[in-house]
Amino acid sequence: MIEERFETVFGRKPDISGFTPGRVNLIGEHTDYNGGMVLPTALKLGVSLAFSPRNDNEIRIWSDKFEDLAERRLSDKSTQHWSDYITGAIILANEQGYLNGGADIAVETTLPFGAGISSSAAVTVGILKLTRDIAKAGTSDKDIAVLARRIENEYIGMPCGIMDQMAVAIANPGQALALDTETLEYELVDLPKNYHMAVIHSGQFRQLNEGRYKERKEECDAVKAELGHDNICQMTDSEFDSLKNLPDVLRRRAKHCMTDHRRTVEAVTCLRQHDMVRLGKLMNESHISMRDDFEITVPKVNALVEDAIKLGALGARQTGGGFGGCIVACIAIDKLETWKTALLDKHPESFWVS
Ligand code: GLA
Repeated sequence: MIEERFETVFGRKPDISGFTPGRVNLIGEHTDYNGGMVLPTALKLGVSLAFSPRNDNEIRIWSDKFEDLAERRLSDKSTQHWSDYITGAIILANEQGYLNGGADIAVETTLPFGAGISSSAAVTVGILKLTRDIAKAGTSDKDIAVLARRIENEYIGMPCGIMDQMAVAIANPGQALALDTETLEYELVDLPKNYHMAVIHSGQFRQLNEGRYKERKEECDAVKAELGHDNICQMTDSEFDSLKNLPDVLRRRAKHCMTDHRRTVEAVTCLRQHDMVRLGKLMNESHISMRDDFEITVPKVNALVEDAIKLGALGARQTGGGFGGCIVACIAIDKLETWKTALLDKHPESFWVS
């Protein structure tokens, strides 16, 4: 229990504690900073936090994952340490008036890192929600997600979109969050009970802030400059044709954003109509688009996706930022166990997440 862990480490009971889930994105990748739709769902796995404010400026963070106690200060803006996300959240909580000083925090997580299932969004959203509740501030979960994104963009230097923070702040397991990232309007859509959205780690770990995510963001910025507006995802076919002066690589980036957005809109309809066969096809097409047009997949993930489909999944694709991490596959519940055993046997470095 996280409360007991807190007491062992800090010698007092925590003032507050909570759980924030991780997320898996079913479809709609790299659309969330280009004005498009995304369709994530919350996992049962996630991050537990126990928390007490302090009157001085010390921030002490104990993590089970690192088996380490980090000691930071409110004025400490350096990055490159596992405790950066939480430190950034405490600094922002002070700026928002939720806190007036540092904090003691214990963290336990069941989310693997570098997997593309949002461990960082779960900790930042989790801390901001707890501090909001301590301050009895009326900030909505949506606004908490917007704040949490700022920690990534401004403090960590990762130019991510809003999907992960919205997903972990709002979605529940068993429901997908159909989110329009341009307006932040959303709808929760039930996932069918006779299918499982399996999450399997490829065994290839990745770090988004190592630069390749940023490179894609910059390529999209170049497309936006040519288009004359920021919404690559919702451009028309004739707008796409008008990009012919751009280098081929940028046209392919734009094509991925436009087509993955359209697939995501259709996927929401499929979920509502329980058309899992069509949803599976859209997931497969999304993977091919990420592989050939957006170029964010790696051979190990491609092989895992191919076998997931060959062995019986209705659809499978890489999920999250890319360059490794997890796949998500739609598999009928009655086939799940045999499928899972066969797939993991064939890919010994991969492992089951959810
Ligand atoms: C990461 C980012 C998200 C999103 C995905 C790709 O998870 O944090 O904002 O861009 O990659 O869809």
